[in-house]
Amino acid sequence: MNGQHDIKLDPAALLAPVPVAMISCRDDREDAVPNIITLAWIGVASSEPPTLSAAIRPDRYSYELIRRSGEFVVNLVDANLSESCDFCGVRSGREIDKFKACGLHAIPAEGLQFAPAIAESPLSLGCQVTQVVQVGSHDLFLGRVVSVRAHASLMDDAGRLRMDLAQLITYVHGEYFSVGKRQGFFGYSVARSKVLAKRMPGYRRQRTFE
Ligand SMILES: Cc1cc2nc3c(=O)[nH]c(=O)nc-3n(C[C@H](O)[C@H](O)[C@H](O)COP(=O)(O)O)c2cc1C
Repeated sequence: MNGQHDIKLDPAALLAPVPVAMISCRDDREDAVPNIITLAWIGVASSEPPTLSAAIRPDRYSYELIRRSGEFVVNLVDANLSESCDFCGVRSGREIDKFKACGLHAIPAEGLQFAPAIAESPLSLGCQVTQVVQVGSHDLFLGRVVSVRAHASLMDDAGRLRMDLAQLITYVHGEYFSVGKRQGFFGYSVARSKVLAKRMPGYRRQRTFE
């Protein structure tokens, strides 16, 4: 024990940090105006087939659009989009055109018929709804990822995707944070010293594992 003193809190969905994303969507009618809803209750449901989950309250305007079209696009948020992301989470598409209000551009999302992507987002994932699960306050939409687009500036010279360059935004209990200091990489706790020295020069392991 480290001498910490614990307190008891009421049961609540206090998961943090979580990603925050701008979900673009559109009704299946010809002249429909595209909309954006901000969501923080999103996640990866499966990598094969690639599937995301999005928890949406039935009273949101976007809920009906996504239900009707069966499509949504998850647009990741960087520091440039952060204010617009908040705005799209406090105003409804029932009253305003959020693309217009934020000065954002809707572009076609490959593999989707109705939902557009947000051109200004560093990375967008086009999703087709495969299931809607009633959970409680929110319904859980499962969306199979059918296309991904990213700003070319996120690729390094070796052709690797460098999402760490995007200054992505996370959400922690009511506040937004920029992803900052790198703390490690997948498997670094057990990586060989040579690998560790190459990928994290100057890093000294805090402990060894049995
Ligand atoms: C940071 C943040 C996270 C949010 N996360 C969710 C969420 O996960 N699910 C949800 O239903 N609403 C969420 N909201 C609320 C909706 O974004 C908000 O009600 C929005 O105005 C709905 O837009 P619409 O009526 O145009 O669909 C969030 C809002 C903010 C600001």
